[in-house]
Amino acid sequence: MEQELRSRDWFGKKGKDGFIYRAWMKNQGIPNDEFAGKPVIGICNTWSELTPCNAHFRELAESVKRGVSEAGGFPVEFPVMSLGETLIKPTAMLYRNLVSMDVEESIRANPMDGVVLLCGCDKTTPALLMGACSVNIPSIVVSGGPMLTGKFRGKDIGTSDIWRFSEAVRSSAMSEEELSVAEACMCRSRGHCAVMGTASSMACMVESLGMSLPGNAAIPAADSRRKVLAQESGRRMVEMVKENLLPSKILTRKAFENAIRVNSAIGGSTNFVIHLLAIAGRIGIPLKLEDFDALSASIPLIANLQPSGQYFMEDLYYAGGLPAVIKELLPLLHQGCLTANGKGIGENVRDAICYNREVIGSTSAPFKHESGLAILKGNLCENGAVIKPSAASPHLMRHTGKAVVFEDIDDYKARIDHDDLDVDVNSILVLKNVGPKGYPGMPEVGNMGLPKKLLASGVTDMIRISDGRMSGTGFGTVVLHVSPEAAEGGHFALVRSGDLISLDVQSRKLQLLVSDEELGKRRSAMTGSFSIASRGYVSLYQRHVEQAHLGADLDFLRGASGSEVTRDSH
Ligand code: FES
Repeated sequence: MEQELRSRDWFGKKGKDGFIYRAWMKNQGIPNDEFAGKPVIGICNTWSELTPCNAHFRELAESVKRGVSEAGGFPVEFPVMSLGETLIKPTAMLYRNLVSMDVEESIRANPMDGVVLLCGCDKTTPALLMGACSVNIPSIVVSGGPMLTGKFRGKDIGTSDIWRFSEAVRSSAMSEEELSVAEACMCRSRGHCAVMGTASSMACMVESLGMSLPGNAAIPAADSRRKVLAQESGRRMVEMVKENLLPSKILTRKAFENAIRVNSAIGGSTNFVIHLLAIAGRIGIPLKLEDFDALSASIPLIANLQPSGQYFMEDLYYAGGLPAVIKELLPLLHQGCLTANGKGIGENVRDAICYNREVIGSTSAPFKHESGLAILKGNLCENGAVIKPSAASPHLMRHTGKAVVFEDIDDYKARIDHDDLDVDVNSILVLKNVGPKGYPGMPEVGNMGLPKKLLASGVTDMIRISDGRMSGTGFGTVVLHVSPEAAEGGHFALVRSGDLISLDVQSRKLQLLVSDEELGKRRSAMTGSFSIASRGYVSLYQRHVEQAHLGADLDFLRGASGSEVTRDSH
């Protein structure tokens, strides 16, 4: 085994190079036998006090280290850039690909035989997985876990309530003082958002792909069993190195199909699409936008979780966690898919039990017969767009209305609450230039707030269409990820206020009811193009980011470079 360890190219060397590799590590008080052929396990930590969802990760890393040491490994913790969804401007998505580069290069450049990825807040999970896939050494994810359910004036609350509270304040149904009290009630423990938002969807994605130990997704961050799972993952990683269990052996096309089906059954985030496409691109699995629709078509909504349902991640854990959901779905899954513990996903959940049918239904008695994500096509989104029917209003699923167009987010903010805005309940709000290149970074503004005057008259939902994303905690009849984005000059760039738009989710159609001749005239008259930043990462991003239907990765990051380092520095 010793010969096969990658880390021996550093710590096993004799002479000057070996001296240098070991000597500086010894300044941390590491005895000689740690370098004598133990598997070196990296712990990739996204801890940051600016990423509150991941602020407990140093403690979690200690549990992983304990497990690694117990199993005979040599743990080394290292930081990468962290992405806190709530604080980073203009949007954490702008930096997902940058973090993935940080992760990839950090793993490859250092003496690691395997890596434990500590992931939590939304983008930290796909970024770490993308980076690890491009190196392809044994990797396992330990998620930070969701927060405990928020409690506000006798009611359970979670991140999705932010949208409700904000609309309530705008329509004067809630005071600013009440809103301030709710702040402290929402996030009352460590962990990431407690609803089936993007962070929870990512944790479930990891588990259903097989890249974590079973049960990883739902254990609350504050529950001591989260630390147990971290310790067990550390132990397991040492074995994975011995077995040479690589991400490429786990992440097969069938594993991706399982993840898509599970995401549908739990009412997972629309962001799942964009991140899974990017991960598939790194590991070399062909996956198309249309696959998400086709694979989720027969999947009912089994988990009754906000924002599509009623409950929270804490409830999911007590009800049996993701293994209980997967067990319900088994006839629809590829049961033999290999997972991080060396067993098939079917074998992992064989003994799973559902303890609460209010939270986890069954395929024969689901919460909704339709789930998943619908992929729309039409002349308004030539390369596709995404809608989450389980979070939308049934009466708007087939609707034709007049467009009210906002050219960008500033235009939207300036006009949405004007009394003279020409809008009614049947209108369709269109927000342009919030895509990957145009914004840049594709922010979560797609579920834009409704006009104040309509809120005041009791309107709670309208069709909204954009080339941006929506928070996984958001809801409403919201069409997202329009591709090509306005900045790329697709038909979406040509839509004007007053145009008729037709949405028909059943037939997966999104049409701009304007003649080709008129669209041609508009295209010839088009003048503006988006501005590209003059320097730095943002300039690189804008020049190389791919469109949403491809996963919005940087074009030169697709695929893998492997783990080999061909040159020594000394
Ligand atoms: Fe971090 Fe929601 S803000 S998961």
